[in-house]
Order: sequence, then structure tokens, then C-alpha cells
Amino acid sequence: MHNNYIKNTILNRPTTFTNGEQASTYTANKIAELIRQKQKEGKPAVLGLATGNTPKLVYKELIRLHREEDLSFHNVVSFNLDEYYPIGTDHHLSYTYFMAEQLFNHVDIKKQNVHVPHSDFSQDRIAQFCIEYEQKIACFGGLDIQLLGIGRNGHIGFNEPGSDFDSKTRLVNLHPLTREDAAPEFGELHDVPHQAISIGIHTIMQAKNILLLALGERKSEIMSKALHGEITNQVPASILQTMPHVEYVLDNEAARLI
Ligand code: PGA
Repeated sequence: MHNNYIKNTILNRPTTFTNGEQASTYTANKIAELIRQKQKEGKPAVLGLATGNTPKLVYKELIRLHREEDLSFHNVVSFNLDEYYPIGTDHHLSYTYFMAEQLFNHVDIKKQNVHVPHSDFSQDRIAQFCIEYEQKIACFGGLDIQLLGIGRNGHIGFNEPGSDFDSKTRLVNLHPLTREDAAPEFGELHDVPHQAISIGIHTIMQAKNILLLALGERKSEIMSKALHGEITNQVPASILQTMPHVEYVLDNEAARLI
């Protein structure tokens, strides 16, 4: 795909750390700073949050900051990137469950301020649900910060290769590599859902700040493509190259080919 996107070559330098723990602590501190700043201003901190292995230590550090350093989440409003479809919210592999276990159950966030995409199982309600999810984000003035992981195929959220850069929250089909990566958790490939509800690339790009965290050798190839390759919707994260307010936070292994 040929395009005329302007790359932000100066700004596209990743912040790298010796290991995942340091990268995660740095990321958690960025989020904590924003929460505290917004508290001073008497405003909500609107966080876009991610699931998967990558952010687990970020959430662990945020919990530590809450317990040991008085970080309150009373002004936090959260919107998660995505959720499998169909899946029950009480399923142990649902992202609703993940977020409760990894973060929300351990901090003082208000239940009504937590949003994880989920529709009941009827296909005909999904479109309306997605419109309302976008409206809710807009209602809070948009995302102050979006935390992202990256899939080995370059997906951000569940915006798989081929997703439109102007996409919004919608039902998506999961890419074979995404399902393959999720198979160990589900037990078998056969048990991994084929679809998900994901906020769109446009929705992500509207966030005021974006932190993309990538850890480990298995992310090195895609990070090299995402940062320095062609800007193409075949590598959804590549669109972030055009944006001034993205920070890539990597450990040395993920940064190996950069
Ligand atoms: P992971 O997934 O953190 O489990 O590697 C990241 C992603 O798919 O966005």
C-alpha cells in the first residue's frame, strides 16, 4: 500500500530499559503522574487500559503505589480496549475478569467508572453498544492516556491487520496469529473465540497521550516494523509513527532490532 503519511522520525525513538520490570515501573509512574495531576486540577483522569501479559507488571506497580504511596483512583475513569466475543463477564479469561483481578479489585476505583467493552450475546445489540461506548469516552472528554500492548502481527487493541485507520469501536474477527497466541490460555485453539469487540484505531489515535509498551524478544520483529517500516494497515501500529504524542516503552529484548 502506498501512502503519503508523514513519519515523526525524531519523536519515534523508543524509551528503552534493561528489563520488563523497569519498563513497567516507568509506565506505571507515567500513569500515576497523570492521575495525580488531574486530582490537583479537580478533574477525572480518563485512562484507556489494555490486557494481556504486557501490562501485568504495570498494574502491579500501580497497586503498590496505591497501597504504599497513597495513590488514589477516586478520580479515575477507565475504558478498556477490547473484549472477546462472545464471552461471559464472569469467565476467567474474559477481560472484565482480568482487569478485576489484575487491578480494579485492589484499588479504590469507583465501580461505575469502569468500562470494559461487553455486549450481551445478541449480535443485533452490538452496533448500538459500540456507538454508546464511543459516546461515553467522548462524554468524559476523550482518553487522557491510552496504554497499548502490541500483537506479534502489529495489532493494537484487537485492530487486526487490514483494519481501517479511521475505524471506531466495533465487532472484529480475530487474526489467526492472535488466536494462536491466545490458545495456551484457553487450552486449545478450538476454544479461542473467533471475534472480539475492539475500540477502533481512530478511537486510539484520539487519545491525548499514548504509551505503547512492548516487552521481550518475541516483540522485537514487530517493533522494528511498527517503528521503522512502511505505514500500512497491514501493520496497524505503524500509523502511530505519524503521531507526536506516542511514547514507545521497550525493554532491551523488544528493542533488539531497532
Ligand atoms: P501480550 O498481548 O501482552 O499478551 O503479548 C499484547 C497484545 O496482543 O496487544
